[in-house]
This record gives sequence, C-alpha cells and structure tokens, in this order.
Amino acid sequence: MTAIITVANQKGGVGKTTTAINLAAAIANKGRRTLLIDLDPQANSTIAFFNMGEVTASMFDVLGDAHLPMAEVIKPTKDPMLNVGSGRLALAKLETVLAGQFDAPYRLKDALAPVLKDYDYVIVDTPPSLGILTVNALVASTHLLVPIQAAYFAIEGTDDLLETYERIRARPNPQLKMLGVVITLYDKRTNISKDTHGQIRAVFGEVLFKTKIGKNVRLEESPAYKETILTFAPKSPGAVEYKKLAAEVLHRVEESRVARHAEDAA
Ligand SMILES: Nc1ncnc2c1ncn2[C@@H]1O[C@H](COP(=O)(O)OP(=O)(O)OP(=O)(O)O)[C@@H](O)[C@H]1O
Ligand SMILES: [Mg+2]
Repeated sequence: MTAIITVANQKGGVGKTTTAINLAAAIANKGRRTLLIDLDPQANSTIAFFNMGEVTASMFDVLGDAHLPMAEVIKPTKDPMLNVGSGRLALAKLETVLAGQFDAPYRLKDALAPVLKDYDYVIVDTPPSLGILTVNALVASTHLLVPIQAAYFAIEGTDDLLETYERIRARPNPQLKMLGVVITLYDKRTNISKDTHGQIRAVFGEVLFKTKIGKNVRLEESPAYKETILTFAPKSPGAVEYKKLAAEVLHRVEESRVARHAEDAA
C-alpha cells in the first residue's frame, strides 16, 4: 500500500515546499520508490528540479478537464528513486475550471489510482490556502504532515487547517491520518524559536516530530542549483535533519501498518 502524504499549512512561507522536496529526496534515499507531486501554482517544487521550459504537461492537465493520465506528466529526476508530477501557474485556474463539478474534490485521487503500484511514497506539496487544490490533496492522501515555522503567530490559522482535516476525515476520506507536525526554520539562538517550540509542543504533544528543521542557508540555496539538499550539501545540518525526519516518517507510517495488520489478524 502506498503512503500518500500531503504537506499542508495555509500560512505562506513556512517551509512546505522545502520539506516536500527534501523529505521526498530523503525517503527516496532510503530506497523507497517516491513520487513528489506539485499542486502549487507557484510551482516551486517543480522549479527545484526542472526549467519550466521542460515542463510540457503539468498537474493542471491531469486535474482539469483534459484528464491527461498521470503517467504522462510524471518526470524522472537525477535520482532514479524519485519522480515528479509538475505544477505550473495554470493550476491557479483550477478553482474556476472545477466549479460546480460534482467530482471536483476527487480528481487527484482518481488520477493517482493507476500509478500507485509504482510507488511506495507519494509526497504532495500544496499552496498556502485551503482551496480546491489542498482539498484534492487531502482527499487523495493517507496522511497529513504539517510544517510549522518557529515564529510568533505560528499556531494561529492551524485551527482552520485542522478543521478542514476533520471535515475530510468525516466524509470523503476517513482513512486520512495526522502523520505529524514538524517545526521548521528553527533558530536555537532566539527566544522566539524556543517559545514557539514550547507552545507548539503544548498544543500538539505526541504528534510533534522529534526532529526540528533548523534555519540553514544551504536549504535556501539548493533549489537554485536544481539539487536537493542531499546532493547539494550532504553534510549540512539541513541534510542531516531531513534524513532524520524521513526516518521518523517511515517509522510512523510503517509502524501504523504493522499495528493495523496485527489488529486485523486478531
Ligand atoms: N530550514 C530553512 N532554512 C533556511 N531557509 C529556509 C528553510 N526552510 C525554508 N526556507 C526558505 O524560506 C522560504 C519559504 O520556504 P518554502 O518555500 O519552503 O515555504 P512554503 O511554505 O512552501 O511557502 P509557500 O506558502 O509560498 O508555498 C524559501 O525561500 C525557503 O528557501
Ligand atoms: Mg511552497
């Protein structure tokens, strides 16, 4: 069974894309067949791997009324274990294109079904909103991962995300689980980071990953070189932290499966 992990937080600039790219690369590095899907019209995850000129078909063609098969959009990266389903600006039109269509929230779920056999993990990067793109991601997913920036007002707004998560769990996708919350852009020298870490831990408790992603300039630089942190600066703190996060993610996903099998067997 493929784990499909949506990376979401409607707050902008909290490290969703940085997490989606580098977590996907770190999971691929652990030998899992991984697909990164870019559902953000800003296409930052896509630009981190390709020049937009190379992107002839995108997730817009898959989710929109062209109904292009997912397999025709997926592109290989330098890492044979990691493929990408590209985003592009046209995705911003999807809200209008899908308006009033009864299957609007299910487009990604339906499109993914035929390719799931080829992947162990699918990571979905989403835009900073709770619109139709993020809803499609959550309806198609098995897990939600929430990056929260270690900054004041970081938790504000997560209520809306959690409410959307609960509503999607109630009806279209009861199998959706909260995989975890990861603190990003952490700066151990500042009180702001320490204070918010304490607040986030108080609110999210066990759900919080042990790994924190620190502020690290290498993480900012690597997309410009079309590399993930694992190849750009393999010894940097960013690379080490995203590998640790990947280990925690695999543990949580694969552990929950073992537990479910044990329950089923009992
Ligand atoms: N740990 C980090 N250390 C240093 N810079 C970071 C780190 N994480 C993210 N950044 C930088 O912060 C900015 C915002 O990060 P990112 O694009 O990942 O956030 P986002 O949540 O995807 O944003 P958006 O909501 O616009 O999609 C980017 O310039 C990115 O390079
Ligand atoms: Mg982003």
